[in-house]
Amino acid sequence: MRGDVFHYEGGHLATEGVRLSDVTDTVPTPFYLYAVGPLVERYRALDRAFANSRHLHCVAMKANSQPALLRPLAMEGAGAEVVSGAELALALELGFSPSRIVFSGVGKTERELVAGIRAGIRLFLVESEAELHVLDRLNARAAAEGRRAPVALRLNPDIDPKTHRHIATGVSAAKFGVDPDTARNLYRRHREFSHLEFVGVHSHIGSQITSVGPLSENARVLASWVRELRSVGVPIRYVDIGGGLGIPYYGDDTPGFTAYAEAMLPHLGDLDVEILTEPGRVLLGPIGAFVVTVLYMKTVHGRNFAVVDAGLNDLIRPALYDAFHRVVPLIDKDTPISNVDVVGAVCESSDVFARDRELPGLERGDCLAILDTGAYGFAMSSNYNLRPRPAELVVDGAAYRIVREAETEAQLVARELGHR
Ligand SMILES: Cc1ncc(COP(=O)(O)O)c(C=O)c1O
Repeated sequence: MRGDVFHYEGGHLATEGVRLSDVTDTVPTPFYLYAVGPLVERYRALDRAFANSRHLHCVAMKANSQPALLRPLAMEGAGAEVVSGAELALALELGFSPSRIVFSGVGKTERELVAGIRAGIRLFLVESEAELHVLDRLNARAAAEGRRAPVALRLNPDIDPKTHRHIATGVSAAKFGVDPDTARNLYRRHREFSHLEFVGVHSHIGSQITSVGPLSENARVLASWVRELRSVGVPIRYVDIGGGLGIPYYGDDTPGFTAYAEAMLPHLGDLDVEILTEPGRVLLGPIGAFVVTVLYMKTVHGRNFAVVDAGLNDLIRPALYDAFHRVVPLIDKDTPISNVDVVGAVCESSDVFARDRELPGLERGDCLAILDTGAYGFAMSSNYNLRPRPAELVVDGAAYRIVREAETEAQLVARELGHR
């Protein structure tokens, strides 16, 4: 755990000098806790890695839309990648300049298109199967607003990102993007859309990609598109290489920002384009921990279970993607290690946070941290089983604060009953 955002100091799990056991003394679990300083450091390191190129890193808001995390990134000059009208509205509220916002997503509504046009965003990423229809609608809406909308098609380059099949998006069997023949045809017809500017190419091939090979191949393919499209008069200015860089969920080695940039820039560096990226997990994942308390221990057919006060409604990644997260005690105890499954309280057999982990003898009341949960953690939480969603806290320097209160049972019941 050395070098991790969360590490042990004197037997206590801590980040930025704050002991998580001090936090649980005052804030009831479960809660997500994020470290702002390391987030900003990660963003700066990514930015430095691309320093020799014209670039804009647009944070994928779907990974975590917590304002206390996004505001500091906006202040650093980051852009935002949004996928819904609400994400767009929130990005604008948080101070992301419209010229730094790109709008992707498989199915944009009329209302969302108009909102993007009115805001004057940098780029619409068009990727619907019915691309022509989307382009027609966008063109008509832009004309009605008296504007021109900048677009890039999201290409589906059929590259295997070697990740979980649920998060592989640039393979031919995925619903995402436009296949090369369709894209070629649409770009060639660019002059037919009087109120659209075909200024970019885009491809996001998947998430949690732990070797730079597939990402580099994606950049190479995009670069060849830029050359081809310019040769037929399409004025490409932006190459959006998407997100997808993975993080060391196992505490293993994954490519750093320098290796990432070194794999991308040789393909794109000479093209005279602005490089756009859409990082989510790699910025936000490692700076978050999900903190839970053991409700009780049980043994079934010789297997040990720690039942905790959270469930897949709070953190769905293990159930949805078989995701592995390290689970560590807040206080490192000097007790014998045993093998344990850490399970949630939801009535689903997939509600398992961790299987067969070696943990120091756990007992009721012990607190655990599920690491690397800053991305796609709270953002994917729900009220399944009518369970309140947890609180979110940030550590900033030596202080911590609640930035979103936990929902209460009373609120959920009132909502079900339709009370205001
Ligand atoms: C279009 C697009 N861009 C960026 C991202 C962020 O990916 P990641 O969190 O892996 O960096 C996603 C996530 O799936 C995406 O769909």
